Amino acid sequence: MTVVDDGAFAALAARARQRLPRLFADYVDGGAHGEHSMARNRAAFGRWGVVPRGLRDVSQVGTGVRCFGQDWTAPFMLAPVGFAGMLHSDRESGAARAARRCGVGMAVSTFSIEAMEDVAAVGGSPFAQIYVFRDRALTQDMLARATACGIQGIIVTIDTAITPVRERDVRNGFRHLSRPSARQMAGLAGRPGWSLGMLRHGMPVIGNLRPYTTVSGVMGQAREMAAQIDPTLDRSGLEWLRSEWKGQLIVKGVMHPDDARLALDAGADGVIVSNHGGRQMDPSPATIEVLPGIVDAVGGRADIVLDSGIRRGGDVVTALALGATAVSVGRPWAWALAAAGEQGVETAIQALTQEIRDVLGLAGLRDIASLRAAGAEILWRM
Ligand SMILES: Cc1cc2nc3c(=O)[nH]c(=O)nc-3n(C[C@H](O)[C@H](O)[C@H](O)COP(=O)(O)O)c2cc1C
Repeated sequence: MTVVDDGAFAALAARARQRLPRLFADYVDGGAHGEHSMARNRAAFGRWGVVPRGLRDVSQVGTGVRCFGQDWTAPFMLAPVGFAGMLHSDRESGAARAARRCGVGMAVSTFSIEAMEDVAAVGGSPFAQIYVFRDRALTQDMLARATACGIQGIIVTIDTAITPVRERDVRNGFRHLSRPSARQMAGLAGRPGWSLGMLRHGMPVIGNLRPYTTVSGVMGQAREMAAQIDPTLDRSGLEWLRSEWKGQLIVKGVMHPDDARLALDAGADGVIVSNHGGRQMDPSPATIEVLPGIVDAVGGRADIVLDSGIRRGGDVVTALALGATAVSVGRPWAWALAAAGEQGVETAIQALTQEIRDVLGLAGLRDIASLRAAGAEILWRM
């Protein structure tokens, strides 16, 4: 099994692994095939340093940024995480409340246990992550729901045309959880804190997909809807989505400059450079390795968010120095939610923000604008 460091979130991750049944901990932690992409995402950040600078006034260091049409107090957002509401009884809206209180962005996964309407009701203007489904009417319905509940931006994920084997999930029978085996039941019973929390909301369902599924269990729903993800999606599909959605349209899962160009030419407002945290293509280059080529291709036309392997303030500063507008984090908030609910997510957001402030200040930078202006000059290739 690949061991990757959990950075600033190590304590929350450890607590999450203690609280969660093994199959949920592995669902969060795992990646595709040999988990090489996951390891590479982390290792690639290790090849960059930020050069310390002194003799500059850094008595006040600001971390605010404008990204995807929103103002955030720190240059990161919470990435869409499917089934997050099964990690803790505070569910997705707990995480949304923490994000709103701290002033950072958040995206609600298509595979969200709470419906997007319930998460949007918290405020803070979350993004809805969607797929283009084979059934376009169903996609249109999700867009109509997003509009009706005041969602201003959607994130369309393009790196899931195929669902690769995730060996941990296979080993644990994760996708057969609807009819749990004796071993799985024992695993759930061995985590009473988690089990009692889950019971508070009754039998879990993917609330966001309830209108479209015919089966009742979470895994059955997920199977039905995963089969709906359109593997023929191409430029014309993206142009169709653009014509259907008037708000911010962000394309997630971009790893090649040509895909970034294509997304923008089709009318997208922004891109997310992501290899899905190593959960899709394996082996994939690390996102930080492909970022510079994508920044060139985008040429300042749109905001770029980078995710996959962000675990430290230094990783965030490195990504921004190489041209990202902001970053997003997936597992860190999933661990935080699993470990301590809404409060845990707030703790995680504050910890990452503090580290970003530390690194900026020690690099002699007073704000994100100065960081973007200095660019790669502040970095050291190790
Ligand atoms: C448990 C889990 C579930 C995820 N579910 C989704 C999803 O439903 N939709 C999506 O676009 N990305 C999903 N992602 C990918 C994240 O949005 C993000 O790209 C990734 O987690 C970033 O890498 P990191 O976990 O190393 O921060 C998921 C990631 C994890 C860890």
